[in-house]
Amino acid sequence: MGSKWLAARGVIAYIGPDFQEERRVQADIERKLAEATALQRRGDLAAAAAIYRQILKIERRLAPAHYNLALIQKEEGKALAAEKSFRAAIAADPAYKLAWRGLARFLCEKEKFREAVRAGLKLAALDDFAPPALQELADLLERMPVGDLGPAGDEAMLRCLNTDEVESDRFILTLLARINRQAGIRKMASGAEALGVLTGAFNEPVIAAAFSKLILPSAEIGEWISAARSSILAGDAFPSFEVIALLALQLALGEYALEPPNGEPPVVTDLESALIAALYGRIEPEIADEILEKGEDLLEALPWCRLLLIRMGPQQLREWQLRGTLPCLSSSDDAVSNAVREQYEESPYPRWRGLRSGGETTLPALLKSLFPGTAFAALPDRPKVLIAGCGTGRHALRTARRITGSKVTAIDLSRTSLAYGARQAEALGIDNVSFAEADLVALPGTLGRFDLIEACGVLHHMADPEAAWQGLIDHLTPAGVMKVALYSEEARQDVAAVRAMVGEERMETLTLDDIRRLRSDILALPDDHPAKGVTKELDFYSLSGCRDLLFHRHEQRFDIPRIKAAIETLGLEFLGFEFTESRVKKAYRARHKDDPAGRNLGNWAAVEAEHPALFRGMYQFWCRRRK
Ligand SMILES: C[S@@+](CC[C@H](N)C(=O)[O-])C[C@H]1O[C@@H](n2cnc3c(N)ncnc32)[C@H](O)[C@@H]1O
Repeated sequence: MGSKWLAARGVIAYIGPDFQEERRVQADIERKLAEATALQRRGDLAAAAAIYRQILKIERRLAPAHYNLALIQKEEGKALAAEKSFRAAIAADPAYKLAWRGLARFLCEKEKFREAVRAGLKLAALDDFAPPALQELADLLERMPVGDLGPAGDEAMLRCLNTDEVESDRFILTLLARINRQAGIRKMASGAEALGVLTGAFNEPVIAAAFSKLILPSAEIGEWISAARSSILAGDAFPSFEVIALLALQLALGEYALEPPNGEPPVVTDLESALIAALYGRIEPEIADEILEKGEDLLEALPWCRLLLIRMGPQQLREWQLRGTLPCLSSSDDAVSNAVREQYEESPYPRWRGLRSGGETTLPALLKSLFPGTAFAALPDRPKVLIAGCGTGRHALRTARRITGSKVTAIDLSRTSLAYGARQAEALGIDNVSFAEADLVALPGTLGRFDLIEACGVLHHMADPEAAWQGLIDHLTPAGVMKVALYSEEARQDVAAVRAMVGEERMETLTLDDIRRLRSDILALPDDHPAKGVTKELDFYSLSGCRDLLFHRHEQRFDIPRIKAAIETLGLEFLGFEFTESRVKKAYRARHKDDPAGRNLGNWAAVEAEHPALFRGMYQFWCRRRK
């Protein structure tokens, strides 16, 4: 903090008219602040707090001193004092973002959710609700999956849902809790009643937006939709076009994972027949496009109908176009590759919406934040990145946006998946990614070398994952780093139970209708069945997700000894696991003081044995060539 900051906040005027004295006091405050901050960083909280209090006696309106004191009080468990200090910082400087952020998180931890969400909104407003600020709001909402957030909660969720620059499925549980609180929605019985309740619920903008934008992972919501759909198709009820469109939007987001209704869809000739047909399945893209064009004026007043037609028409047509133009770098006649390609051509995964914003960083800074004690050789300012098995591109686009100056090559077997990613890149205006077809079994030498290679969720779908891993290492620059994500045997016991129930040998021949039926069978299992846990996964609620999660044509599961063996055989150095929750590494460090970097795979195997779900989100780790 410089003297300009103090002057701007009236410190100088407060100090008095004598210029020399003024300068002296100001310099003294600055020196004390620096001293206290250094003490705080070193963990001497009591000494730091004493200095902040001294400073605040001289100048009450010094926001950073209040804020830093709040952090200490929070750490010391002095909740009331901490909240007061956060608020004092804000009173001293209403535009002080750190204090708003600190207050919002603190209130959230204390389960004062309504106040927390109001603080989160204030924070986002300071940045004019720009995408990174909204993403931060979405992350805050994720931490409050219980309780009634009131009107501010609706406003916060709606702001996030209304942009494609935010990953809103982060707060899906919060949103489901909000939908479940909607009057009457729990007590659904018959089809007509379900339709009535949903129609009422759609009057709430946040619920309508949720149905249009996110896959809602709830078996009950699936039942309401099925019942409401039957009622409409039986001619028992005549809801508005917009209500039908919202039901169809949610059905389409789940890729019609629910068992289909009886009867046949109508021939589509106009908006009404298109909407009814969309309750059965997707409309032909050319026809959706035509209706969109013809009904332009009418659709001005029907935003949900318009969105449905845009998704089924022009967006799909653009993907088809892009699919035809993508380069092919390599192919193979590997039987597993062919089976896997067929699966993803029919069921590209994941069909994501909303890309995470914020957190831009350089590659060295990212590595430093992930592995603070590790030295890395110099990496270029404009790193070349390879995303191997990029699927529909979410990961590739996130990396392209996050790592400044990066040039990303994203490869996959499935052209349909790649086209989805290419369309999203266009829509989001991300131009530092190139998508191309390639088989990891046979990477061409001309692919070049990369400073960062990411292979997340792909190697375990190959016949020989270790060989493919080696193939990727051959494309790493000498100083390059690699991120890998692999399935854990231990964490996927419920998935293994489903596969055992269905029979591994059937995986290759399952049709989409088989998958729909199997989904219903799994939902009907008793709660204590070993396979039932899979119904808690978001992926269970879309057809491609369900197929990828449960019925993959080829999946292998790893354990830590196998990873350790591969790391050794491939001449790699294990850099560490990456977790979304920092408390996992903290807990590990507290237990294994001799391994603060968390590199001992034997230790991790023991931790996993105690916490079998630890790697549910896959073993995600980083490695590089051994020196
Ligand atoms: C589960 S998806 C993961 C997509 C993406 N990495 C993500 O995390 O969202 C697996 C992807 O790996 C691709 N894949 C599987 N085997 C491959 C191979 N031999 N070569 C290239 N891609 C492959 C599939 O086509 C599929 O898109």
